[in-house]
Amino acid sequence: MLAIRLHQFGGAEQLQAEQLESPAPGAGEVLIDLVSAGVNPIDWKTREGGGAAPFQGEPPLTLGWECAGTVHSLGEGVSGLAVGDRVCGLLNFPEPGRCYAEQTLAKQDQLARVADSIDLVECGGLPLAGLTAWQALFEAGKLQPGQRVLILAAAGGVGHLAVQLAKWKGAEVIGTASAANHEFLQKLGCDRVIDYRNEEVTELIRDVDLILDGMGGQTGVDVLACLKPGGVSVTLPSVTAAQVIEAAEARGCEALSVRVAPNGEQLAQLLALVEQGALRLAVDKIVPLRQVAQAHQHSESGRTRGKIILRV
Ligand SMILES: NC(=O)c1ccc[n+]([C@@H]2O[C@H](COP(=O)([O-])OP(=O)(O)OC[C@H]3O[C@@H](n4cnc5c(N)ncnc54)[C@H](OP(=O)(O)O)[C@@H]3O)[C@@H](O)[C@H]2O)c1
Repeated sequence: MLAIRLHQFGGAEQLQAEQLESPAPGAGEVLIDLVSAGVNPIDWKTREGGGAAPFQGEPPLTLGWECAGTVHSLGEGVSGLAVGDRVCGLLNFPEPGRCYAEQTLAKQDQLARVADSIDLVECGGLPLAGLTAWQALFEAGKLQPGQRVLILAAAGGVGHLAVQLAKWKGAEVIGTASAANHEFLQKLGCDRVIDYRNEEVTELIRDVDLILDGMGGQTGVDVLACLKPGGVSVTLPSVTAAQVIEAAEARGCEALSVRVAPNGEQLAQLLALVEQGALRLAVDKIVPLRQVAQAHQHSESGRTRGKIILRV
């Protein structure tokens, strides 16, 4: 099978297509024939030696944590799935996911079945960002109907799904994005969009119950001023989480850091919303697997609208 391998941490040119033996599923595992894999900022951060690199072991590595495909074969003890079933999942994060390949192994409880009415290629871009949005809003952030949520980087992979999930929950949603993405976000249901390049969110927005901070760093620190007393900021970029949490403590408010975790049951709930038309994955680009370097470069630009997907 074809796989994209990283022999040493570094630039996108380090990603190389190679032929590998197909792995055999062990107990509780499923071998999947992949149709797509999603690309996320954690992929290139890890490729550079940051991000999830400490969890990967020694190179060569196969990157990629989310995928969609069909079941090729089942390991011992797997029940409720059959050869040919359409599935997607966030695999093993932050341990190796190995989704940049024609086939990969997955633990059954990290997968969810995909209905025939859902585009399977697009589904490869849902699990990581979708579960991040779900866990940040509903588990860490405990978002309730009627609350106000501010979403930073609302047009990105996590943000555009978080906007829709927060609206589905009955919250008032404010997002930050450059002007070119305002119409996109309004169509997804965002009640108000702040043009962060020309407007000061801290001057315009007050008294939010929850911040979903997709930016971190000084931006994540500054927006703490928008929280109402007792409000919470959930900050996503792990490298700046300590800085944001410390600043929140100094201001007498709360900030939390989260790390997305695989969860087949939550993924099934996300897919049910997709099937009902309540959640839509916006696809920025679909790139052939062999052109993964181009997909990384696009993600690194910081301008992704929705998700980048590799077609296997
Ligand atoms: N902790 C976790 O488990 C976890 C999970 C997922 C993601 N993350 C992290 O969360 C962050 C967001 O992830 P993602 O996948 O959503 O990223 P992404 O898709 O690459 O985000 C791209 C978006 O960021 C927006 N953006 C860039 N600069 C901005 C600014 N100053 N203010 C507002 N928006 C801005 C861009 O909108 P414009 O073009 O309109 O500027 C673009 O739409 C990343 O750092 C990622 O590593 C963490």
